[in-house]
Amino acid sequence: MTSNRLIIFDTTLRDGEQSPGAAMTKEEKLRVARQLERLGVDVIEAGFAAASPGDFEAISSIASIIKDSTICSLARANEKDIRRAGEAIKAANRGRVHTFIATSPIHMQYKLRMNEEQVIEAAVKAIKIAREYTDDVEFSAEDAIRSEVPFLVRIFDEVIKAGAKTINVPDTVGYSTPELIYERFKTLLEQVPNSDQVIWSAHCHNDLGMAVANSLAAVRGGARQVECTINGLGERAGNAALEEIVMATRVRRDIYDVTTNIRTEEIVPSSRLVSTITGYVVQPNKAIVGANAFAHESGIHQDGILKHRETYEIMRAEDVGWKTNKLTLGKLSGRAAFRARLDELGIGIESDEQLNELFVRFKDLADRKSEIFDEDLHALVAGHQGSDVIKRFELVELEVTSKTGQTPRAHLVLKIDGKDMPVSQSGSGPVDATFKAIEVLAKSGSNLELYQVNAITSGTDSQGEVAVRLNQNGRIVTGQGADTDIVIASAKAYLDALNWLTTEGKANPQTEEVM
Ligand code: KIV
Ligand code: ZN
Repeated sequence: MTSNRLIIFDTTLRDGEQSPGAAMTKEEKLRVARQLERLGVDVIEAGFAAASPGDFEAISSIASIIKDSTICSLARANEKDIRRAGEAIKAANRGRVHTFIATSPIHMQYKLRMNEEQVIEAAVKAIKIAREYTDDVEFSAEDAIRSEVPFLVRIFDEVIKAGAKTINVPDTVGYSTPELIYERFKTLLEQVPNSDQVIWSAHCHNDLGMAVANSLAAVRGGARQVECTINGLGERAGNAALEEIVMATRVRRDIYDVTTNIRTEEIVPSSRLVSTITGYVVQPNKAIVGANAFAHESGIHQDGILKHRETYEIMRAEDVGWKTNKLTLGKLSGRAAFRARLDELGIGIESDEQLNELFVRFKDLADRKSEIFDEDLHALVAGHQGSDVIKRFELVELEVTSKTGQTPRAHLVLKIDGKDMPVSQSGSGPVDATFKAIEVLAKSGSNLELYQVNAITSGTDSQGEVAVRLNQNGRIVTGQGADTDIVIASAKAYLDALNWLTTEGKANPQTEEVM
């Protein structure tokens, strides 16, 4: 079945979302899913249906809205998980159940406490139940890279007989090297009976910085699906970055000889959206989507580029979606133009009330900032949006004083559970004073793990986009806020994180009890 079509399986909404503090609301997941569909990904892993009722609902909504991509739910190899996944993808045009169980000696002995026969039995049973819901069933041997090859051959043979159509070989802990994974795929494709009847898939983590190199080596070894995330988002050092795999196969078609369905001009908009929603900012020197990825600083390079572009450029910035900021709307734009642009950007509006509220914020921004770009519109909805967020804390008023030689002070009024509460605090800087003041009222007892400010567009009238990551007894959340005043943006981000802490957490499929 080896063709030269490479299936792009995006797991930003599942493995990406397992990153600390990257949890998204249902509405945010829908926005990302719409953008992934626009990008042209073949399979969207929309979540882990058994994690929480919220995850189940998000997958079902994505399944009923997305038409062009296959919608997939992850499930551990047990009946309850598989049935939840099967139900969640029911509305999809094309739905997939992705079930997994660990196969390495260390995982079987210490995590599962199961022997090889028990693991094979659970996997086969899981595939058969999944096939009651869909023909499109994927099986993953978790920690496959540290698993014994003869055992992998045996379990893959059994799951293919039971009806699995895609076989995934994850490098769960990012331990592989390109040479090893290339050999692993070659061996499995040779030794597993009927290996030509299924699609082989790679799923690489980036702990040694080789996730993309390993995924590409797997493709050379025969993989025809890669599992990846936008910006390489994911637990620890992350997953393989979609944009890097896609552009490597395109620019070096001579080596990989595969094609994808990805519309590359949608890469940068996808990267921006995921970064805004999760608060995981992209480093400037990141390949393809980093702000400097196409900037030619040195005089020699600029000279070369001006004489002949290809002297220093192997791909064009505009081909991956970099364009000079597009002026979108202005002070005089009306409600209809505003709504139309939000729709085009995939920012779904739930009600007239929400549209009115956003329009007021847009007008207010347009008064302070003469030019409004797409990035500004995305930032307008910064902060967790949607029905699953309880807005316990709201900013009513903020005043900060900061003068050379004096201790900065913040005076603010918060609405907490509907009641206005004033407070004043000093701090080492205006932001520090503001956060201290909020904590006096909120008493969350959480630790600040990350505080990050990013200018959304160029110019000193740019909005500042702030991410605040809080850790409350091990639960980690990220809040976002945007404003032309970065102290206000910071306060909004802190309050967003506090509001997000009041919503329920969810189970992690790889570390929770299996049965
Ligand atoms: O890394 C991993 O092994 C996974 C599996 C659940 C596919 O994410
Ligand atoms: Zn993973």
